[in-house]
Amino acid sequence: MKIADEYIRLHPRSAQLYEQARKLFPSGVTHDIRYVPPFPIYVERAQGGRKWDVDGHELVDLVMGHGALFLGHAHPRITEAVWEQARKGTHYGASHELEMEWARWVKSLVPSAELVRFTNSGTEATLMAVRVARAYTGRPRILKFNYHFHGWHDAVVGARYAESLDAPPPGIPQAVLEQTVSVPQGDLAAVEENLKRGDVAAVILEPTGASWGTLPLSPSFLHGLRDLTTRYGVLLIFDEVVTGFRVSPGGAQARFGVLPDLTCLAKILAGGLPGGCVAGRAEVMDIIAFHNDPNHDVTRRIFHPGTFNANPLSAAAGVAMLSSIADGQAHARADALTYRLVKEMNRILARQEVKGCVYGLASYFHIVLGRECPHPEDGIEWPLGDSRLPPRMDRAVGIALKQAMINHGVDLMGLSGGFVSAVHTDDDVDKALEAFEASLSDMHRDGFL
Ligand SMILES: Cc1ncc(COP(=O)(O)O)c(C=O)c1O
Repeated sequence: MKIADEYIRLHPRSAQLYEQARKLFPSGVTHDIRYVPPFPIYVERAQGGRKWDVDGHELVDLVMGHGALFLGHAHPRITEAVWEQARKGTHYGASHELEMEWARWVKSLVPSAELVRFTNSGTEATLMAVRVARAYTGRPRILKFNYHFHGWHDAVVGARYAESLDAPPPGIPQAVLEQTVSVPQGDLAAVEENLKRGDVAAVILEPTGASWGTLPLSPSFLHGLRDLTTRYGVLLIFDEVVTGFRVSPGGAQARFGVLPDLTCLAKILAGGLPGGCVAGRAEVMDIIAFHNDPNHDVTRRIFHPGTFNANPLSAAAGVAMLSSIADGQAHARADALTYRLVKEMNRILARQEVKGCVYGLASYFHIVLGRECPHPEDGIEWPLGDSRLPPRMDRAVGIALKQAMINHGVDLMGLSGGFVSAVHTDDDVDKALEAFEASLSDMHRDGFL
């Protein structure tokens, strides 16, 4: 049976639910990435590295809450912390000690964090960082990099958000789009050319490369950016929503030794509950502070309300998460599992003589099929630095891979990647490898490879 037919056969209840969902949500989904034709699977519970769908299938989960669940689903320490806090109240409409404890963990782990302000998501964090940078420098423009993702607010969509984007994205006024310049990652000359004009407030990037390292970035570029931004008095913003607390306990900045002025965090930060923050240099973050000078507070300060900022539930989950992973042991475990997974996947590709490669960093990975690309050598990282970027996989091939992997009991993040947690096991990796091998055979049979 073809991959797509098998997918439909195995998931009758999900298909039924999706029919109802289409009457409730545009395209039946609540996040773009969950739009998987002909319908997404519906999940009813999850534990550790696994989840169970409404048709009774057990899946090895490599989505891991879009990278938020570094300790897997329903980790006892996090569940207990949230449960205990829920009994004490979920919103005091007031300051509370747990928000301080949460911020202290951020400060102790993230090298550039002097002051912290909590938000409700990564999108809100980049929104705040951009606003702070503009207010602090008095300049309007933001420089980003092609294909780098910073959430969905107007200031970070900019030009060349996606390959297909020749026309400007709808819903964003041209005047707003013009305030965001997007250049190829790795191109310091293009950055300098823009900074020279004197109207750029900040350079923002995903520090391990576009789309959580799908297009990997060499760390030397980070050093180059730090030098250039310092020279031109422009703020450097690291969007560590994915890399924060993942590629090391202190994120990419700790791993590569480059300190940004501002850092955007979310996902792991809030222990699997909603939450984000901007952390950064005290002098810059001061732009959010009241000075009790009516002139300053109205004309210089940026305001920041937000009903659920630092809510006690997210704070409880965040403290439980960060305190559990601070010593780096969780990272060692997740990274070792990812290493084995990526190495073995590449061996399977070689054995089956399938064009493609798998590469990653720390505990995330990306799969390319149907295109020539080199396999990582020493570690799991893309072997060509940014001299040649990995090719893009066809969407149709990605959909077939996603469906085939689900048919064989593994859920990938999006169509072609994954996040490994510290609670996945060798058995999960074995299952993922078996599923990968079987999926490649199915894809070959159906003419995708
Ligand atoms: C690098 C990066 N920045 C920002 C965001 C937006 O975060 P959120 O989905 O919490 O709004 C994401 C989301 O995946 C992301 O990967």
